[in-house]
Amino acid sequence: MKYEEDPLANALICISEYESGCLDCGDFHLRSILRRMHVAANKKTGDLAAFNEATRVALKQLADTLSFVKIGIVGSTDTGLLANLLMIAHEIGGKDLVDRLDITLIDRCATPLIICQAYAERCGVPLKTLRSDFLRCAPDGQFDLIIMHGVVPFFPAHKRLDYLRHVATWLSDEGMLISSTHLGTKPYQNTDAVRTKMAIDNLTVLVRQNSNLDDQMLAAMIERLEASCETRGGETTVFENVETAETSYEAAALHVKSHQVVQLDTSESETHFRRYKQRSIVTCVRAD
Ligand SMILES: C[S@@+](CC[C@H](N)C(=O)[O-])C[C@H]1O[C@@H](n2cnc3c(N)ncnc32)[C@H](O)[C@@H]1O
Repeated sequence: MKYEEDPLANALICISEYESGCLDCGDFHLRSILRRMHVAANKKTGDLAAFNEATRVALKQLADTLSFVKIGIVGSTDTGLLANLLMIAHEIGGKDLVDRLDITLIDRCATPLIICQAYAERCGVPLKTLRSDFLRCAPDGQFDLIIMHGVVPFFPAHKRLDYLRHVATWLSDEGMLISSTHLGTKPYQNTDAVRTKMAIDNLTVLVRQNSNLDDQMLAAMIERLEASCETRGGETTVFENVETAETSYEAAALHVKSHQVVQLDTSESETHFRRYKQRSIVTCVRAD
């Protein structure tokens, strides 16, 4: 498939950029991208099917009425969200619709922007990138579709509403915002250490296979990955339940058009573990 991701290419970019990349995210991407080489084949687990379906419904509706659909991806770990979006667009309207997308990726960290830019070039799809804190970001024009997957937990709790309100102002009059986040509390378990170990194992194999990467670099990266265990961001509780979630989006001048709650499998396997049982996926429009 034309828009398939290349987790190895993502990891190699991460390694080559490691000295200057991920300085603003506590090595969140370095660790996640190296770890995901392992889980790439299993990635369509959890809420992704429901999230993609919400994206499909919104994009189809927008594509039926607009010549060009302006899309903002607000935060991204790797190429996953962009790849899903392109595949959905291609399924709905073929290359003609892919060519009608005007996509901007916003993140405070350079790593996902560089990785997605390389992926977009491979796919022959133009991509705009904006490196900024969401709260200070002023995208050029309004978005018809905003995609936020697992980003609300990263808004600082005391400013969550400010962030949501600010992102809501980027929506066009007919625009739709799709947001997914866990419901309830995500208890801390020892999964961060497991994730870090997976990333380090993958990194070690990659370095051994590449003669231009040396042991000194490996040691420096492992040190950073181990420290990233301590610094991983994200609030453990964002929305207690469906009502709190809806009230919060509504308080940010958004109207919740549809809300789906996905029950997740919390049983553990070697490559897959979840710390919460439910995920909320909303499609919102502007309330005003
Ligand atoms: C958990 S990731 C969301 C990724 C999504 N779940 C995925 O699968 O791609 C959160 C992203 O938001 C970015 N981020 C967090 N807080 C931010 C902020 N205040 N301003 C800009 N970017 C931010 C992080 O760098 C990270 O890439």
